[in-house]
Amino acid sequence: MPVITFANTKGGAGKTTAVLLLATELERMGFRVAVLDADPQYWISRWRQNSGDRTAVKVIPYVTATSLEKHIQEARAETDYVLVDLPGARTPLLAKAIGYSNHVLIPIQGCSMDAQGGAHVIELMQYLAEKGDIHIPYSVVLTRVNSMVTTRALQTVKALLAERSVHVMDTPIIERSAFRDVFDCGGTLHTLASGRVSNLEKARENARAFADEVLMHEALRCRRLRQIANGALLQAVA
Ligand SMILES: Nc1ncnc2c1ncn2[C@@H]1O[C@H](COP(=O)(O)OP(=O)(O)OP(=O)(O)O)[C@@H](O)[C@H]1O
Ligand SMILES: [Mg+2]
Repeated sequence: MPVITFANTKGGAGKTTAVLLLATELERMGFRVAVLDADPQYWISRWRQNSGDRTAVKVIPYVTATSLEKHIQEARAETDYVLVDLPGARTPLLAKAIGYSNHVLIPIQGCSMDAQGGAHVIELMQYLAEKGDIHIPYSVVLTRVNSMVTTRALQTVKALLAERSVHVMDTPIIERSAFRDVFDCGGTLHTLASGRVSNLEKARENARAFADEVLMHEALRCRRLRQIANGALLQAVA
């Protein structure tokens, strides 16, 4: 079952928020989801505790570099998607988690400090590909994007990424108070009381579009793997 890791060595980039949105959307679509909480601040574990039976997303707390492999194996056996929420720091967990991943998502806010934390992960991915011949798909997710205006900082980040041929998800995660509320109140965007949260429907649409794009990426990856396997089979029988 696919493992999707969220990484940016800068704190506050929007990793945990993106994990929460993807996990709860995948759950809404009928998938079984486990989140490995490798952040010593345990934000996603606290959200899980707060949520009670409003979600079936399974959160495994206290994941460390030593226990990561065991947790990934167990979670993969029991669920359809495993999401890994990493801390916003340079730790040995980063390379380890990337090694187990089918897709690495790098949330980046449209400001330069944040782009640096993301750049560190991108450099690591490129190093693994060039030096180790380890090719793990990775994509940047632009986060906390203003729904009304495109800022100069965001344009700069986009241009830098394009220069480096880094794949950027078409769906940015917009700055929405609903995304903060779901964190604070527990549950999901669909258990929040409509009417009390501004632009809740837009927030739901955004989360849905983000999850759809991640799934599309996953489907393409599987198709590519099948094509490689078919090619190898044809070569073997030729
Ligand atoms: N799209 C968004 N809209 C509104 N608020 C957001 C959004 N994304 C993140 N935030 C808020 O920004 C803060 C940091 O976000 P988050 O905890 O997701 O970042 P993080 O990368 O996981 O941080 P850390 O590295 O410390 O774990 C939180 O208060 C969160 O509610
Ligand atoms: Mg976090």
